Amino acid sequence: MARHLITSAIPYINGIKHLGNLVGSQLPADLYARYLRGRGHEVLFLCATDEHGTPAELAAAKAGKPVAEYCAEMHVVQAQIAEGFRLSFDHFGRSSSAENKALTQHLAKRLAEEGLIREVTEKQMYSVADARFLPDRYIEGTCPNCGFESARGDQCDNCTKQLDPTDLINPRSTVSGSTELELRETKHLYLRQSEMKDKLEAWIDSKTDWPVLSTSIAKKWLNDGDGLQDRGITRDLSWGVPAQFDGAPWEGMDGKVFYVWFDAPIEYIACSQEWVAAGKGADWERWWRTDKGADDVTYTQFMGKDNVPFHTIGFPATILGSGEPWKLVDYIKSFNYLNYDGGQFSTSRGRGVFMDQALEILPSDYWRWWLLSHAPESSDAEFTWENFQASVNKDLADVLGNFVSRITKFCRSKFGEAVPEGGAWGAQEEALAEAIAGRVKAYEGFMDEKEVRKAAAELRAIWVLGNEYLQSAAPWSTFKEDPVKAAMQTRLGLNLISLYAVLSAPFIPDASATMLAAMGAEGAGWPEDVKAALSALSAGHAFTVPDVLFAKIADEQREEWQTRFAGIRT
Ligand code: MF3
Ligand code: ZN
Repeated sequence: MARHLITSAIPYINGIKHLGNLVGSQLPADLYARYLRGRGHEVLFLCATDEHGTPAELAAAKAGKPVAEYCAEMHVVQAQIAEGFRLSFDHFGRSSSAENKALTQHLAKRLAEEGLIREVTEKQMYSVADARFLPDRYIEGTCPNCGFESARGDQCDNCTKQLDPTDLINPRSTVSGSTELELRETKHLYLRQSEMKDKLEAWIDSKTDWPVLSTSIAKKWLNDGDGLQDRGITRDLSWGVPAQFDGAPWEGMDGKVFYVWFDAPIEYIACSQEWVAAGKGADWERWWRTDKGADDVTYTQFMGKDNVPFHTIGFPATILGSGEPWKLVDYIKSFNYLNYDGGQFSTSRGRGVFMDQALEILPSDYWRWWLLSHAPESSDAEFTWENFQASVNKDLADVLGNFVSRITKFCRSKFGEAVPEGGAWGAQEEALAEAIAGRVKAYEGFMDEKEVRKAAAELRAIWVLGNEYLQSAAPWSTFKEDPVKAAMQTRLGLNLISLYAVLSAPFIPDASATMLAAMGAEGAGWPEDVKAALSALSAGHAFTVPDVLFAKIADEQREEWQTRFAGIRT
């Protein structure tokens, strides 16, 4: 069995995430982690809150709380919501941890020792009205590349180009809206990424199996202008990891902190140290240090497309540049955006459905299924209430839920609450088993390749096969002339339920657990041999009829939600 390290992009601390954020990182990462665990692999699945930077400072100020207190509270909120969505992190850490501070300062020191850090005295945007330097994303203006009017000072969300605040046309402060901005002198540290361009490019070029979305964004950044640009890694802020080197001051850096995008990915490593400190694991180095066994690890990262540059260039430059044997990512799974009903999901504007609201109206499996089966992989995707209602009613209620309820209820009424005995498979059953085995292979293939939508489609097709079988075998009719044959058909149907539960667990873990409990098959493992799995529950094995697995969404209900979520969140 292999070892798999899986990380999801770590969500910003400043507020509850929307469904678009969820489907672009945490949820598919969870799907993959659950699948690999199900197949018996050793998995370390990590996520954390991204707590530094101006967004955290400003959100805390808005909430009227000291920033450390705000972060501690919001971390708990995000952890609870993650649990609500059944995100199975082995640890949910915090980028503000002591571990991350130490490791960030350590890596900065190593980079400096390798000659990869240079000082730059530069002019930076200072907002007179706000009485502070305004970092990158708190300045908005028109993108010089594509003309988008709300481009941020760090990146244009429309064309993904990396920007400097001074590149913006008509810049303004997003803190106050003030355009009274002036350039003031300040000293910063730069990571000499340009020195590492060839190394990084060769590494990216070797990743021929990555989604084009990941490699194309990386290449765009590698060849930005004259080539790979050096990046500033410090900021004039008070909240963050102090810009020190293994705890020792660096002249001229008093009162400055490392840039949030410098310390955030380092938290992937620090999180594994927090996992050990929390008593959940014994050894983090075997996951991260290639000199300590991490050579055997397969490392997969999940993220939205706006995060790709920082994971293909920034973070690799940090750990490669350190000269230390850190484990590099093996596969970057990136996602496009999920839109909301004809527009964009927006945290700042409160548009769309947020994770806490989603859980208030329906259990997590409904959302997990819709989001994963519509993951924005090859292009942007769109959430509409009609589509959500249709998927839930058809896939979950009609196909899967109905199958489970029909066969268990039929069995209870004719044979009682135990798997019935008698009869042997005929040609139809053999053919079904073979068809399912073929589709299970395909399903595994898509899951291995992290092809989320295709895997969902395959799983749905596996459910459909069972329904079609039940429809044509019709044990309720067979029963009249040939009760023994009907018993055999019913036995197969009951076995299909536990097979479906195991296969579906990565997508809909709660329903899967309910199905397994009803079948008394909690210990069922991954079906390495589908035919054998379809005979696993033998005659006499007790079961119960589960409650309705998935309720249909009525039109009135859908309309009510549509209205409720049409506006903006206040
Ligand atoms: N907080 C960032 C976002 O939500 C993601 C940070 S990912 C990490 O876009 F690599 F920096 F950790
Ligand atoms: Zn642009």
